[in-house]
Amino acid sequence: MTSPTSDTFTINGDRLWQSLMDLADIGAYDDERTGLRGVNRLALTDADAAGRRQVIAWMEQAGLAVRVDRMGNIYGRREGTDPAAAPVLTGSHIDSVATAGAFDGCLGVLGGIEVVRTLDERGITTRRPIEVAVFTEEEGVRFGTDMLGSAVAAGRLTLRSARALTDRDGLTLGAELARTGFDGPTDVRLAPPHAYVECHIEQGPVLADHDVEIGVVTGVQGISWQKITLHGRAAHAGTTPTRLRADAGLAAAQIVVRLRALVDSGEYGDLRATVGHLVVHPGLTNIVPARAELTVDLRNPDDVQMTRAEEALAAFLRELEGGGPGLSVTTRQMARTAHVPFDEGVQKVVAQAADDHGLAHISLLSGAGHDAQEIAALCPTAMIFVRGEYGGISHNPREYSTPQACAHGVDVLATTLVRLADQD
Ligand code: GLV
Ligand code: MN
Ligand code: MN
Repeated sequence: MTSPTSDTFTINGDRLWQSLMDLADIGAYDDERTGLRGVNRLALTDADAAGRRQVIAWMEQAGLAVRVDRMGNIYGRREGTDPAAAPVLTGSHIDSVATAGAFDGCLGVLGGIEVVRTLDERGITTRRPIEVAVFTEEEGVRFGTDMLGSAVAAGRLTLRSARALTDRDGLTLGAELARTGFDGPTDVRLAPPHAYVECHIEQGPVLADHDVEIGVVTGVQGISWQKITLHGRAAHAGTTPTRLRADAGLAAAQIVVRLRALVDSGEYGDLRATVGHLVVHPGLTNIVPARAELTVDLRNPDDVQMTRAEEALAAFLRELEGGGPGLSVTTRQMARTAHVPFDEGVQKVVAQAADDHGLAHISLLSGAGHDAQEIAALCPTAMIFVRGEYGGISHNPREYSTPQACAHGVDVLATTLVRLADQD
């Protein structure tokens, strides 16, 4: 799929950086832990809606025809000389976790718009249309399932089930789409594009460790999210003998420790395990916890090892239930995706583009989930990773990629998109 004789396209790095910083002002907060300015734009909050309006304004200024679908996914289209040809799609998300930086997702969306601006300035036309997508609730931290908008667009999840998901206050995604003005009229099922390419920060240390600028992403590892609720019995902290307790808090702590032991055992491949949410009820000093709720996030590049790890956790939960009277466990799977390999042809176009820009690159598997893994079900797909600073820390206000690193990633995106858009 490579066309090494095509031109390379260099975008305006200052303009890209300015749009990243301008978007980061929307939903900005002072992060007490780091002393830095962070970003909090949870999906379909007022801040996210303001960010979406800003992105649509930039799309329209760049001459894109904008449409919004029933999941609030936004698409901006630049026509090609053959409007009947399937478009080349790029994009990502602008919703964030509650303690985010300026780059996660935003680089892919604003990078796509910057490519369009560059092509317009140069008077470049492509055979195929180019579309820039903004997918809804990629993070999954508000409504509990990640890559939500792209998963519905690609047909893995139904529109009805996605719109019925609720946040912690019981608000449905459907109602929040309507409230924010993003319950669009367009059919959510995406017609297969010709190809999809997403530019994203790496969110890890691998590119910096190899001292290269660009990652050619080979795929995304499997992700398993579940919510575990432990039901114990509230009792007096001073008078209740240990043997009479059904302590939901203790069981929660045991799960955290057991998950780490599964990882450290090395028996489950390259497993990662995180308990990112843990609350006990009623949450008072002198009451044995009656209930505990926690989330478990497992990642594994190997689907067989992932299933084994899930089974090991399930066996431990049964052990906890059997360990004493009064403790019971309920679980709910929140999200589950297998390892997704990306298209080798699109990876080659990305690698060739990096070479033609004189940028060193390596191939790597993504540790994080991305909209690209959903769109991969529809069309040949790959991703471009941009190197991060400070060990590639992400989901943290310290998240940072230099202006030059961002510009280089979007240069590679521009050249890749044009080459794909000129394919038959
Ligand atoms: C997305 O940010 C993820 O959790 O991988
Ligand atoms: Mn992201
Ligand atoms: Mn993220």
